[in-house]
Amino acid sequence: MARGVPARAASRAPGRAVPGVEPVRFDWADRSTWAPALDGVDALYVVGPYTRPDEPRLVRDLVDAAPGLRRVVLLSVLGVDRLPGTIPMTTWEEDVRASGKEWTILRPNWFQQNFGEAFATSLREDGVLALPADDAGVGFVDTRDIAEVAATALTEDGHAGTIHTVTGPEALTLQQVVQTVGEAAGRDLRYIPLTPDQFGDGMRQAGLDEGLITWQQGLFQLIRDGGNTVVTDTVERVTGRPARTLKSYAEENAALWR
Ligand SMILES: NC(=O)c1ccc[n+]([C@@H]2O[C@H](COP(=O)([O-])OP(=O)(O)OC[C@H]3O[C@@H](n4cnc5c(N)ncnc54)[C@H](OP(=O)(O)O)[C@@H]3O)[C@@H](O)[C@H]2O)c1
Repeated sequence: MARGVPARAASRAPGRAVPGVEPVRFDWADRSTWAPALDGVDALYVVGPYTRPDEPRLVRDLVDAAPGLRRVVLLSVLGVDRLPGTIPMTTWEEDVRASGKEWTILRPNWFQQNFGEAFATSLREDGVLALPADDAGVGFVDTRDIAEVAATALTEDGHAGTIHTVTGPEALTLQQVVQTVGEAAGRDLRYIPLTPDQFGDGMRQAGLDEGLITWQQGLFQLIRDGGNTVVTDTVERVTGRPARTLKSYAEENAALWR
């Protein structure tokens, strides 16, 4: 929208139109929604159906369903090549690379926004964050920076055939994150390191299925092994401005933890 490029935002809950962006209903699980969303589109940003690991070829099918498509930018995940077991992102990456389109793959580190979404309730209500990450560092990235890298790859030349590893500007432990968030919110918050077994038991009690539990355990194993300490200059190189810090994200969103 900021670039003046007409865009369509495809979602299960399309919401209101804003100038320059056409909302359209799209559901991975309902193929009748695909053609109207793809009509006339020449560049596509794909946030894949990670909750449907039983159908890993949906990204291939979507790209094939868009005959006018020239460019595709795929959101994958940092460590896709090192995570244990079979994960759908591996197949999505292979299919996009074999699509014959101008492809770009984004492999982001963990999102800063996780602390304001998935992890916000326990921080706000109990004042704690309990996860099996030991004291390993993670190069948390602001999702707005991922979006700007994606927008650049969608609208400018020079990114075809490229894998961009997208991270924040520094690697932080969860202890450091909780302290930063607590200072922003004016609260005393605590990080409790869990064992993998404690974490798995918690997810089972919450009713998560075993496939999702294995995937989550693999993500934290990679963190504990130091695989997420990665910090790159991709955001600055691609967008021309430094990556946003966790501190700035926490200060802008302090109300989420009060
Ligand atoms: N979170 C991280 O730290 C992180 C780090 C690196 C990579 N990633 C990758 O980024 C992707 C998104 O992660 P996330 O943490 O943002 O997940 P999320 O919060 O669960 O968001 C998933 C999105 O997919 C949409 N969605 C789910 N089912 C859909 C369907 N059937 N049809 C259309 N849209 C559907 C959801 O829309 P609704 O609003 O309709 O539910 C939501 O917007 C995943 O592939 C993940 O592996 C995440």
